[in-house]
Order: sequence, then structure tokens, then C-alpha cells
Amino acid sequence: MIPAPKEISLLQGQLPVPEKLKLSSSKSISPDLLSALKLIRASVAEDDTGTETLLHRFSALPATDPDTYVLQIDPERITVSASSDNGFRYGFQSLMQLMQIHRKAGFIPCQRIIDSPQWSWRGLHLDVSRHFFEPDFVCQYLDWMASLKLNKFHWHLTDDQGWRIESKLYPRLTEIGAWRKAEDGSSYGGFYTHAEIHRIVDHATALGIEVIPELDLPGHCLAVLAAYPQFACFPKDFEVMNTWGISDDILCAGNDEVLSFLKEIFSELAELFPGRYFHLGGDEAPKARWKACPKCQKRIVELGLKDEEALQSWLFRELAAHLKTLGKEVIGWDEILDGEIDSEPLVTVWRGDGIEADRKAIKNGNRIILCPNQFLYFDWFQAEAENEPGAFGITTLEKVYSFELSDYDQDKSGLILGAQANVWTEQMDSPGRVRYMLFPRIYALAELLWSSSQNRSWSDFQNRLAELESAL
Ligand code: ACM
Ligand code: ZN
Repeated sequence: MIPAPKEISLLQGQLPVPEKLKLSSSKSISPDLLSALKLIRASVAEDDTGTETLLHRFSALPATDPDTYVLQIDPERITVSASSDNGFRYGFQSLMQLMQIHRKAGFIPCQRIIDSPQWSWRGLHLDVSRHFFEPDFVCQYLDWMASLKLNKFHWHLTDDQGWRIESKLYPRLTEIGAWRKAEDGSSYGGFYTHAEIHRIVDHATALGIEVIPELDLPGHCLAVLAAYPQFACFPKDFEVMNTWGISDDILCAGNDEVLSFLKEIFSELAELFPGRYFHLGGDEAPKARWKACPKCQKRIVELGLKDEEALQSWLFRELAAHLKTLGKEVIGWDEILDGEIDSEPLVTVWRGDGIEADRKAIKNGNRIILCPNQFLYFDWFQAEAENEPGAFGITTLEKVYSFELSDYDQDKSGLILGAQANVWTEQMDSPGRVRYMLFPRIYALAELLWSSSQNRSWSDFQNRLAELESAL
């Protein structure tokens, strides 16, 4: 199985691989959970047939992770025990994998699995700006995540190459900002309506996945400037970017209208996402325009700020305070540590091996999500082979597997929540290409986040991966 469970004890006998499951549960299992479990596996029987599958809720012991589950396979029945809905989901996902692995043989060896996650942030990101993906595919992506017990979906919704979420307050963001001119002169783009966002978020919630939306700012905003040029330091006719790279034109931080725009858009869009977090970006924002802009310079002087990096920190603090009133905590890319931030924002650590930003964040007291590009960027090549798709460096399956989170917290600060892999889609123009870049690296990601170091071994992982792939 992947990710490797904490404890497996083999028992006497075997259970025929069920065609259908007949769920029996006490009243403590909510209808919502039952329909969520059916979403995981369509072959849950609606009638009175199938292999008896007991759902048993136990009260959490104080020292036990609430996500713990116990999955027991007996010769005639299956029991999934957990104290939380997510525990049931994880137990059920393990059962689905066991059924898949043993389908050909026809029998599952009787066993008891006691299992819980090592890290609480087990994330996967998707950039829908560089290429747009339909809601059905995003739901499929969430299904892949859930099947491997990943629980945080970081949705990169905006960038220079396209704004992908409907705003009723600022309609030009999608009328103009969601479309770019392709090489052949045609228009490329798309966006999610509020109804589509609801559908995707509901699907994620049923699977136990929290959605973290990202509106990237103040850089990576050409799509905004194409729609509302007055938000630039030096307004002109901007176009949604149709090449890859970084734009010198960014949002003006000296313009009060920009601040009002951002606060209004966050108020509008925060309502669509029930989760706790909002990602504000903060990466790769060149300061050339701010250095030359009278409004930005005036703001720096008036607020007594040190420089342009401090101005970006001020903007971030203003927005974080606003999002707090909306009940949200904020996350930023590790460039936010280059300015002056307090310890509240979470930091997605991405540059290089991540060690430098990691140390800085720990010193400043910020919680950390690790996604260093050398290990966890799935837009990087998987191999050196000719015609292999990808960009930048190489992150092989083995390299991903070798990533060790505990190396990043040698002083045991407890500030590391977990990690995520980032899927930037410049080189992925179709769902098939995303799938190609994701698999099999997503298996390594899932295991390094779920399983403890003691339970992980590269050679054993390779065997289990072969077993799983041959059962597909
Ligand atoms: C990033 O890769 N620009 C966060
Ligand atoms: Zn400016």
C-alpha cells in the first residue's frame, strides 16, 4: 500500500474481494459522511447485498491523533474504526487500495491496520492560470489526492497569463483578464464561475480536502492590469501575458484605489471558500516600477518605511488584517520573509533547497509549508530522457522520495506543518500532460507526508509501487 501504514498485523484467513460493500453503522455516522464514502467508492451497495462493512466510531483518546483509523479485515466482514470523519475517509481509502491490489488474486489476507498521519499539511498545488483546466478535471485531481490521503489543495487561480475566478464586483477581471492571445491569433483562456467554484469546493470538502485559494500579488498581476490599467504605477494598455516569465509591471502599492480593490475582491471571494487559509502570493515582484513611482515613493516616506521590500510587507500586513476580519489566515511565498513580517503568516518555502528561508521563518516564528523546488516542483523534469516534458532541473521519483521533512526542523521548533508539491503548468497544456507529470511522483509525495521515517524505505516503496501499478 501507498502511503505505507504505521502498523499492519496479519491475521488468520482471508476475505473474498468484495464486489460491493454493504455499510452498516450506528447513528453516530452522519448522512454527509456516508455520501462522502460513497463518493470514494461507487460500488457501495444501496440495497441489502454486499460484504458487510461496519463503521465503528470510537471516542478519541487524548494522546491519539484524531485522524487515526483501524481497518480490520476478517474472513466475513470488514470493520473501519475511527474517531473523526477524516479517520473514516482514510480507513476507507486504505480499504479501496487493498481491494485493488488483491482483485486479481480474489482474496484479501485478513489483517489489522492501525494508522495515522505523520504530517498535518499534505498538499498539492495546481496552477490553472498558465493553462486552464475544466471543473471536471479539477474534481478528478481532487480524487487522486484523496486516494493518497493528501488533504490540502492549493489552487493558484491568478497569474500574469490569466485571471481564472469570476468576480461580480470587478467583471473585467474575467471579461478581459481571463483571455490571452495565442500564437495563431486565437484567444486562449477560461475561468470558474461562482457555481463551478462551489461545485469543486463541495467535492473537496466531501473528500476531506481543504481548498486554499491563491490570488497572487503584487507581482504576477498582468491579467489584472490588462483589465484595470489604472492599478499600475504607470498606466498604459497592458495585455494578458502570452509568454512565460516575470513582468516588471505590478500593482501600485501607493494607490489607495488598489488597496480598496484588493480588500473588496478578498471580501467577495473569501465567501466562496470555507477553509481557514488564503494565499496572497508575494513571489517574484520586481521593484523597478515602485522605485520610479511617485505614489509608491510618497507612501514609503509617509509611513517611514525602509525601502520597497518594506512597502510590500506593509501591503501584506494591510491585507492580512483585512482577511483576519473575514476569519482567514494568510500564507505567502518565502519572499515575504525578505521584508518585515510578523509571525502570523504561514510561509510556503520554495526557493532552492529551502534551507535558508526555512531558517529565517523559524527564527521569525512563522509556520512553514515546505515545497522546495529542488525536491517538490512537479513541473521539473522527471528524467533526463530526450523529449521528456518539463522545465528547469530534474526531480526524479527517487529525489522526491528522498525528501526528509525532519531535516528542516533540527531544533524541534514544531513550526513545520508539512509539505506540498507544486504543479506549475507552463509545460502542461492538457489534463493528460498534468497526469504524466504527477504520476508516479505523487506516490512519493504522499508517502513522505503520511508515513513516518521509520516506516519508509526506497526499495520497499518501489516494490509497493510496482504492486499498485500492476493492479491498475
Ligand atoms: C514560485 O515558484 N514562483 C513560487
Ligand atoms: Zn506605484
